[in-house]
Amino acid sequence: MPPVRFDEFMDEALYGASGFYVGGARPAARGGDFATSPELGTLFARCVAGYLDRTWDELGQPDPFVVVEGGAGRGTLCRDVLAHVETCSHALQYVMVERVDWQRDEALARIADVGMSECAVAAPDLPAGPLVGVVLANELLDNLPFRLLEHSETDWQEVHVERAGREREVLRDAPADAAAMAEAVAPGVALSTRVPLQLKAAVWVRRALRSLERGRLLTFDYGVRRTAELAQRPQSEWLRTYWSQQRGHDPLGAPGTADITCDVAFDQLPPGATLSTQAEWLAAAGIGSMTADARALWQRKRSKPTAEALAARALLDEAAALTDPDGMGAFWAAEWRVG
Ligand SMILES: C[S@@+](CC[C@H](N)C(=O)[O-])C[C@H]1O[C@@H](n2cnc3c(N)ncnc32)[C@H](O)[C@@H]1O
Repeated sequence: MPPVRFDEFMDEALYGASGFYVGGARPAARGGDFATSPELGTLFARCVAGYLDRTWDELGQPDPFVVVEGGAGRGTLCRDVLAHVETCSHALQYVMVERVDWQRDEALARIADVGMSECAVAAPDLPAGPLVGVVLANELLDNLPFRLLEHSETDWQEVHVERAGREREVLRDAPADAAAMAEAVAPGVALSTRVPLQLKAAVWVRRALRSLERGRLLTFDYGVRRTAELAQRPQSEWLRTYWSQQRGHDPLGAPGTADITCDVAFDQLPPGATLSTQAEWLAAAGIGSMTADARALWQRKRSKPTAEALAARALLDEAAALTDPDGMGAFWAAEWRVG
């Protein structure tokens, strides 16, 4: 078989017939291959629910108020948001967009289990719109297949993957448009520097924005403001694999057995986003007041903790993980406003 471009290899390794997400791996669940903010507990969802209530007001209380979640996985964020929205709840129509069939089915079953079936539907792709509401995505953009380019002596080359026996990398001259893009986002870099081209993430954001007549697009993901920041670091730092909560960096190692993911370069996405760190966003969304009672209780009872005090401690630990400046707290919340 001729070598395929890295993004095509990644698409197959994650979403092909034996792909990581398709083969029944338990990606985002507790104890799965990696943990995400909505899977740590309900605090993240409570903050998102408050944001939806405020946005519904800002948009003039539309009915229906459509919330589309891209990469909804097993529906955890949807379930917990539906349980915590207040003022917008009667107008809210939640659409879980998930590419992988079994995850969509499981998400719908979990929403049915909590008696919320009439509030949510699932779809394999973004609705066309026009919608008035919010498009959300947590840790989706980093999972959309990207191209990999390497600066050579003469120009840019593109990483391909040869699948004869064991997978191995093959470099080919990059097409002119891809080379021009790489040069634009990472000009004048040193020999052998690599950068990702995240065209699918850019297209997904553009489609999400186009689906909105009025509203917001809000994404959470790890990444950097500028591709040039990635170009200064070795590929192993920004192209990662996850399996059983272990971090690796060889995407060709055993395709289908590990997640493959990349720091999102926000300068490759459509312009206009306001960026804040996840910690800043959660603080503005009120995570401090949501945990104030737990903090006070823990302070009072920490020397002789009751079951209630231990539950308070668990909530504080969850808040600490979500806002950790060396972890999820350093993710970016990116918000685009439409209309
Ligand atoms: C890292 S997981 C995050 C899941 C969930 N948002 C969370 O935070 O736990 C990324 C999810 O995006 C899904 N996905 C990937 N590409 C997609 C696409 N183009 N449209 C919808 N879902 C997609 C994957 O199947 C996977 O469930």
